Amino acid sequence: ILSLTLILPSSFSHSNQFCDAATSSKLLIKGGTVVNAHHQQLADVYVEDGIIIAINPTITVGDEVTVIDATGKFVMPGGIDPHTHLEFEFMNTETVDDFFSGQAAALAGGTTMHIDFVIPHKGSLTAGFEAYEKKAKKSCMDYGFHMAITKWDETVSREMELMVKEKGINSFKFFMAYKGALMINDELLLEGFKKCKSLGALAMVHAENGDAVFEGQKKMIELGITGPEGHALSRPAVLEGEATARAIHLADFVNTPLYVVHVMSIDAMEEIAKARKSGQRIIGEPVASGLVLDESWLWHPDFETAAKYVMSPPIRKRGHDKALQAALSTGVLQLVGTDHCAFNSTQKALGIDDFRKIPNGVNGIEERMHLVWDTMVESGQISVPDYVRLTSTECARIFNIYPRKGAILPGSDADIIILNPNSSFEITAKSHHSRLDTNVYEGRRGKGKIEVTIAGGRVVWENNELKVSPGTGRYIKMPPFSYLFDGMDKRDAFYLNSLQAPVKRAKSST
Ligand code: URP
Ligand code: ZN
Ligand code: ZN
Ligand code: ZN
Repeated sequence: ILSLTLILPSSFSHSNQFCDAATSSKLLIKGGTVVNAHHQQLADVYVEDGIIIAINPTITVGDEVTVIDATGKFVMPGGIDPHTHLEFEFMNTETVDDFFSGQAAALAGGTTMHIDFVIPHKGSLTAGFEAYEKKAKKSCMDYGFHMAITKWDETVSREMELMVKEKGINSFKFFMAYKGALMINDELLLEGFKKCKSLGALAMVHAENGDAVFEGQKKMIELGITGPEGHALSRPAVLEGEATARAIHLADFVNTPLYVVHVMSIDAMEEIAKARKSGQRIIGEPVASGLVLDESWLWHPDFETAAKYVMSPPIRKRGHDKALQAALSTGVLQLVGTDHCAFNSTQKALGIDDFRKIPNGVNGIEERMHLVWDTMVESGQISVPDYVRLTSTECARIFNIYPRKGAILPGSDADIIILNPNSSFEITAKSHHSRLDTNVYEGRRGKGKIEVTIAGGRVVWENNELKVSPGTGRYIKMPPFSYLFDGMDKRDAFYLNSLQAPVKRAKSST
C-alpha cells in the first residue's frame, strides 16, 4: 500500500493571481473519496487561498488549518450549471432570482459556478453586456456569460468579435422560437454560425420551429384551449425535432460545432445521436426538468400548479424523461443544465386566461445536483466519476475553463462539494433558498445529500446553513477555441481538397 505522508509547512507559499489576503483560508478535507471525471481515490485535499494545493492519501497539517472530516463521503468538484437565467427580463416581467439569490440557492445545492445568458439591450451586445455586468456585481459565486444574438447587421458582427476577444464570452445562443421577440431566421442562423466559426466561439440553439409554434398556439386558442395544457399541445416534440435537425444540418454545412440547449424530447435527442454518429461535433444538453418530470402536470386542475410547469420547449410525455436519461448515460448527451428561470405564482398568473402569456421557465439551480445523483447514480445508470463529468467537468471543458474548474487537481479553484451517499434530501418551497414561492419538485425526496459546499476556498454551505455575502463571486472569462475546435481547420482543408477543378467543356460544334 502506498501511503505518502505530505507535511505542509504552515507558511506554505504559492503564487496565485487570484489570492486575496482578506479571504485567506486553509482547509483540509480528510478521509473522503476524491472523485474526478476519470478517476477516484481515497485521499485528503488541502486548500489554501481558494486554490487546491495537494491531493494525497495522508496530509498532516498544523493547528491553524480548518479540518473537515469526509470519511464515508464523496469529495467532488462543485457543480457547474451551463444554463441559467438570473434577473432576466422576459415576457413582460422579470425573474425573481437575481445574481445573489439564485447563486445562494445554487451553493446550497452544490453548484459553485453557472453560465448565464446575456440578452442584448435594444440590439446592442455591448449595452447588454454592461447591464449584466451591473446585475452580477452582487454575485456570491463564480459565473460566466453566454450571449444571445437576436438580430443581424455589421455592428452585431463586430460586437461578437469584441465579446470574444475582450469580454470573455465564447458562446452565442440563437433562438429559433419566440416569434416576434427573440426569434431569428435561417439566414441569420447561417451568418451567426459562420461568425462563430471564425471566432472559435460555440454556437448554441434553442431549437423549436417558432413559426409552427405560433400557428399551433393560434389553433389552440381558436379551439378554446386557453389553459396551461395548451402550451404542450401547441408546440409538440416534432417541432423540436425539426428545428434541431435544421440547426444541425446548417452547422454541418458551415462546418462548425453546435450546442443544443435544453434537449427535451426523444425527437431532438435522436437527431443529435444521428449527427454524432456521422462524426459531427454536436453537444446535447438535457435539463433537470426534462430528465425527471413529465407533462401531465400541465393538465392539473389547479391553474397555479399547472402554470409552474410551463417552460419551452415543453416538458414532454412520460417516456421522454427515461429516454433522455439513457442518452445521458450512454454519451449521446454530454452534460446537464437547468434553464433555471424563476417566475413566482403571481407572475405565472399573467397567463390565467391565455397560456401564451404565462412566463416560460422553471426552477432547478438548487435541485440539479441532488436530482442527477438520485436519478442517475442511485438507479445504477452512471458511475460516480460519470456524475462528476456530467455535472461539472464536461461543462468546464466545453467552455474552455478546465482544469481551473471541473476538477480536483493541484492548482484548480477550490470549488468542492462533499456528498453523503447515506443521507437523503427533500425538496420543498418552504425550505429552498430561491426567492420562488413554488417549486416544480415540491415534495420530492431522494438519496444522497450535499452536506458541504466550498466555493473559492470558503465553506459557504455546512450544517444546512448558508454563509454567503454579495460581491464575493468572480466573473470567469472563457477563452475561445475549446477542444471542440481542435482539427476544424484540417476538416476545412479536407473539404476544399476534395473539390475538383471545374469541368472544362468544349464548345459544341455547329
Ligand atoms: O422556458 C424557458 N426555457 N425559459 C427561458 C428562456 C429559454 O428559452 O431558455
Ligand atoms: Zn496566497
Ligand atoms: Zn431556450
Ligand atoms: Zn434558457
